[in-house]
Amino acid sequence: MSNVKRDRHVEHDWYPEPIPSNVDFGEGFYCESAQVFKKMLCQKPHAVVFGDHVSVYAGCSFAIQKDGRCTVGDFTLLNGAIVMAEELVEIGSHCLISWGVGIADSDFHPLEPAQRLIDAHALAPFFKDRPPRPKLKTAPVRIGDNVWIGMNAVILKGVTIGDNSVVAAGAVVTKSVPANTIVAGNPAVEVKKFQ
Ligand SMILES: CC(C)(COP(=O)(O)OP(=O)(O)OC[C@H]1O[C@@H](n2cnc3c(N)ncnc32)[C@H](O)[C@@H]1OP(=O)(O)O)[C@@H](O)C(=O)NCCC(=O)NCCS
Repeated sequence: MSNVKRDRHVEHDWYPEPIPSNVDFGEGFYCESAQVFKKMLCQKPHAVVFGDHVSVYAGCSFAIQKDGRCTVGDFTLLNGAIVMAEELVEIGSHCLISWGVGIADSDFHPLEPAQRLIDAHALAPFFKDRPPRPKLKTAPVRIGDNVWIGMNAVILKGVTIGDNSVVAAGAVVTKSVPANTIVAGNPAVEVKKFQ
């Protein structure tokens, strides 16, 4: 059972498009609106793979770039997360991911000032001398099983979060978090452990 029809349109959706054909989902998939895939640029098969009983609410966005991928395990709930993948964002099973959470495997612009000027030109759609975009640094993000990420937290490139861990509301996670750990703050640091 699912609220996605055979033609991949979401039941009672205000958004007219179906869920893209390169999004795989298991049984019990609940999607509030196919609009969450509006920023899906990847054309490759299996760009987003959801397990069974995954819930994706309308505040989410899957900004999956042309070589990007995202996987989400069984029973994970995404309440309003923005997933930005140039390469790979893996989210485990039984995760609870709250409003306004950002998860990105790249910074999406180069750090170095001269390269950023080029990137700004590259991103101006009607600029006639548009250069190619500079190469971006990417590093996969891996979120384990049973991880809870609170409102407006940010998970940056290269971060792995171990099973059962919790990211506090508003935390900015710049470094990997071991299993069974609660992190908070900016940059996020360990504040508690589950025994
Ligand atoms: C600021 C930023 C670009 C720096 O990237 P970077 O140079 O690769 O940074 P590093 O990962 O090497 O981190 C350098 C230090 O800054 C800290 N740091 C990095 N980003 C941070 C952030 N957003 N908040 C707080 N601290 C941060 C790191 O913990 C590290 O600290 P340390 O020296 O004590 O170990 C990046 O971390 C960032 O914030 N990216 C998000 C960009 C964004 O919003 N893109 C969305 C699309 S526009």
